[in-house]
Amino acid sequence: MGQSYTLAITGASGSAFGVAVLRRLSANPAVERVALLLSPTGKRCLHDEAGLTPKDLAALPKVSLRDERDLGADISSGSFRQDGMVLIPCSAGALGRIAAGTSETLVSRAADVCLKERRPLVLCLRETPLNRIHLENMLRVHDAGAIVMPLMPGYYSNPETIQDLCDTFATRVLDQLGLSEADARRWKG
Ligand SMILES: Cc1cc2nc3c(=O)[nH]c(=O)nc-3n(C[C@H](O)[C@H](O)[C@H](O)COP(=O)(O)O)c2cc1C
Repeated sequence: MGQSYTLAITGASGSAFGVAVLRRLSANPAVERVALLLSPTGKRCLHDEAGLTPKDLAALPKVSLRDERDLGADISSGSFRQDGMVLIPCSAGALGRIAAGTSETLVSRAADVCLKERRPLVLCLRETPLNRIHLENMLRVHDAGAIVMPLMPGYYSNPETIQDLCDTFATRVLDQLGLSEADARRWKG
């Protein structure tokens, strides 16, 4: 059986990074299915920045949409087989809800399930500058087992386009989920 992941796009700038990770998850031979979640503001940012709708993304192979308001969805339960979750971009609001363990939306509940089941949870926070609350929340989720991976792309690969930046960052995210890619561009020294 292949791997199963959840990807959430929350209400922060940088939805192109989420799209890049989703495309790579969809194309990865080790991945069998991807549950896709968007918060209301995540949908708005996806539309404004990338000109895409959730349905456009759900048309990718292996990807299926979940309703952010459906707290009874499969991914809200620890008994549903999942291999990890990524929030990209992750808003400061979503970070705060996860840090507080509120589980009041499907995004925060599914993330909470990953933490309690000790599955990889990657939070690609996008906010700047950071206040004390953001910094404390990052430490809190780190201590609970999450991987805090702010949207800080590397520049040593000499990117020529924003897509190049998104793609190299997406490779790093898949690394954190334990997925390797045949075409990954890596530093060779
Ligand atoms: C167009 C737009 C851009 C935003 N960009 C950011 C951002 O980059 N980072 C952030 O933390 N919040 C940003 N926000 C605010 C969050 O979307 C807002 O706090 C929201 O409640 C977060 O909840 P969500 O994670 O469920 O989407 C933005 C809001 C809008 C409308």
